[in-house]
Order: sequence, then C-alpha cells, then structure tokens
Amino acid sequence: MSTQSADREYDSVDVSSLQFWAMGPQERDVRLAELRRNRPVSWQPPAEGGMMAPENDGYWAVTSHELIKHVSTHPELFCSGEGIQMEEIPQDILEAASGFLAMDGEKHMTMRKLVSTAFTPKQIKKLDESIRERAVGIVDRLLDLGEGDFVQNVSKQMPMNTFYEIAGLPEQYRDQAAHNADEMAGWNDPDVAAGREPAQVLADGTIGNLTIGYEFAELTRSCPRDDVWSNMIDAEIDGKSLTDEELATMFVLLSFAGNDTTRTSISLGTKAFLENPDQLAYLLEDFDGRIANAVEEVLRWVSPIMTFRRTATQDTELGGRQIRKGDWVVMFYASGNRDETVFADPWTFDISRKPQGHVAFGGGGPHFCIGSFLAKSMLRHMFDQIFHRVPDLSLTEPELLVGNFAGAVKRMHAATGCPVAH
Ligand code: HEM
Repeated sequence: MSTQSADREYDSVDVSSLQFWAMGPQERDVRLAELRRNRPVSWQPPAEGGMMAPENDGYWAVTSHELIKHVSTHPELFCSGEGIQMEEIPQDILEAASGFLAMDGEKHMTMRKLVSTAFTPKQIKKLDESIRERAVGIVDRLLDLGEGDFVQNVSKQMPMNTFYEIAGLPEQYRDQAAHNADEMAGWNDPDVAAGREPAQVLADGTIGNLTIGYEFAELTRSCPRDDVWSNMIDAEIDGKSLTDEELATMFVLLSFAGNDTTRTSISLGTKAFLENPDQLAYLLEDFDGRIANAVEEVLRWVSPIMTFRRTATQDTELGGRQIRKGDWVVMFYASGNRDETVFADPWTFDISRKPQGHVAFGGGGPHFCIGSFLAKSMLRHMFDQIFHRVPDLSLTEPELLVGNFAGAVKRMHAATGCPVAH
C-alpha cells in the first residue's frame, strides 16, 4: 500500500463512510454523479468500519462507465488476486470465499473453464423448461399464502433451487447453504451479524459453506450423478483432477455469486415495475418481444453488486490520475450504470431503451459473470409468472442490506390481493 502524498489528497466527496453507504441508492448517486462527471477517478479514505490494515491509506474510486470498462478489460494492469472487496479480507478467507473470482491469469482461466461450460446459452436453453416450472411453483405458493415476505418466499427460492438443482445438491443442504452465502454477502450488516464481529460473520458463512462443499464433494465421489458437480469431479486439469478442497471452494464461490445477486434483481426488478405501471403495461403488451430488453434494464436499474475491487500490478495512468503499483482500485458499478454519457436520463426506468452495455455483470474482461445467461433466464420466467398471474401484487418499501458490496434486499412484504385464486 502506498503512502499519502499531495497528489492523493482525499476527495472532498467522500464515498467511504458508513453514512454514505447507509443512504438509499438515489441519494448516494448525488455524490457519485459529482465524481463521475468531474473526477471519475478520485482518491478516497479507507472504507469506514471495515477490516483494514493500519497502513491502508485509501483507494481509487472509479465511477464512470468508460473507466470501469477499462479497468475490467485490463487484467494485466489491474488484478483480482489480491482481493475483490473494499476491505482487507484475511488471505485464507479470501481464497476460500472467492475461489477463482480472486485469481488471475492461467490459473483463473483453467478453473473458470471447468464450470463455464455448464452456463453457456446452449446449456441454459436446456434448463429453460425446468426454470419455467420452478417459477410457476413459486408463484403458486405465493398465491396460496396470499401475503408474506417476498424475498424469502419468492425471490430467494428461484436462484437457490436452480443453482443447487444444476449442481445436484441434496435438498436438505440448500437452505443452510443459501443462509451461509447470505452471511458472506452481508457481513457488514448489523442484522446479519446479530451481535458478532463482521470478520466472524464472514468466517462463519465461508466455513459453513466450505463444510457443505467438502461433504458434497465426498457424496458426489461416492455416488456420481449426471450433473455439473459430477462432471467437475471427473474433469482433469493438466492430468490432475480437482481436489476436495478445490471443489469445496468452487461450491462456496458459486453459492455466493449466484444466490443473492439474482434474488435482489427479482425483488427490486418487481418493485421497479410496480412503481412504473406504464412500463409494466408496455411490457405486457408484448411480453415475449420485450422481456429481453426489460431484463437488461432491470439489471442496469438494480446493480445488485455495487462495487468490485482490483489492485494495480504496476504504475499506470487512469483518468488522468497516477496510479501506483499496489494501489487499490474500486469500480463503482452502481455509478457506471447511471452514467449519463451512456444512459440518457439514467434515473428513468425505461425498458424500451436500447441496451448500451450495463455493467451489472462486470465491465467485461476475464471475470465477466459466468452466470449471466442463467440469471437472465430466471428473471424472465419470474417476471412472466408474477406479472401475468398476480395482477394485484403490492410490495412495501424494501429493507436494504447495509454494506458497500451487495445492494441486497433483506425484507419486503408482499400482498397478492387475492389470497386463494390462481
Ligand atoms: C443478476 C445476477 C447476477 C449478477 C448481477 C452478477 C454479477 C457478477 C459480477 C459483478 C461479477 C464480477 C465481474 C468482474 O469481476 O468483472 C460476477 C462474477 C461471477 N458470477 Fe455472477 N452475477 C449474477 C448471477 C450469477 C449466477 C446465477 C451465477 C452462477 C450460479 C454467477 C456466477 C459467477 C461467477 C462464478 C463469477 C466469477 C467469474 C470469474 O471470476 O471468472 N453469477 N458476477
């Protein structure tokens, strides 16, 4: 970590404080907009309240769409192997929690290839009917309940069961695995922490899913199935198959990456349509023709992952600022998705806007989200069922997770308006 000097005085617009992260997205964007318009690369103090080494003196906040793409697509300048969050995560937890998300180069590509074949458009197409059926079942249950927490009963159910079904994880593990993944995404939040130190919450979630990952690897070895996990057990890299440790880490990563993100998009996407009835009416006029664009707009609108970090591998220049080797560079995806030079009128939810390449799945480059096609298919089927079958749905204001990484929803009460009719 570099030392403080005149060329890196902290910006007058602070996006590191707990107060900043406790604001709602639109309020936060007032500050982010000032930065992305005038100083798209700004030097910021270390994230307040996080796990930080005493010598950590800050990070570069990258807030424009263009520069987020630049950082994402230049892994030779900005690497992931030294961490991906705004806090100092202990190395052992980082490796266990992030898997190949926090790897670089050849090692990253090899591990990524092992799973990416399960998530290609062709593979996802094969899953289409089962995803549709799952969406039907979830909405059947919502209608049976009449009302309840939308996050628990609806949004959570789709990604959790879809990914664990693809992997072949037995049902009895699923709730606990999703709960552990939630702790990993929400360790900063006092509700999630329930009295524990943030580092403890992260460790609990990670170790919990590592333990399930080990048991799952053993189970799969002893009784192979025809699914993604069984294929990974059979796969070989340079003549060597994956160890149980590698499989367990892979399980931790996929549980973490796939659950909370898609859940948030379903929750806040549904809310966005209910708050913009003209957009919902426009979608329903030609659902099949408009849903693909609508899903892209939901992802831009929601930005379920708000930030991602890289570390500079060498001295370089970014947006007119001198970056030194070892500096932390944090991309603010939520800001990139409101960049008015790319998205006209960015605070208007407009499903007819031509997709301009939102950065909800990352800004391109080697770490671009593996699950993007799967996530989009889940969103499409959920919106199809929700909006066609629950016309009188109402939702309360979402209770948002506190933290600087996942912009997740903790709770949001739903009422269907017709308790028993299907
Ligand atoms: C709306 C839902 C989702 C969003 C917004 C999302 C977002 C992201 C983002 C921002 C990244 C990091 C990109 C980067 O560093 O350049 C990422 C990576 C990743 N995502 Fe997703 N994701 C979603 C759903 C999923 C799903 C459903 C899965 C799989 C089950 C998944 C698996 C992964 C994996 C494995 C990586 C690491 C890729 C790598 O490092 O090579 N994601 N995702």
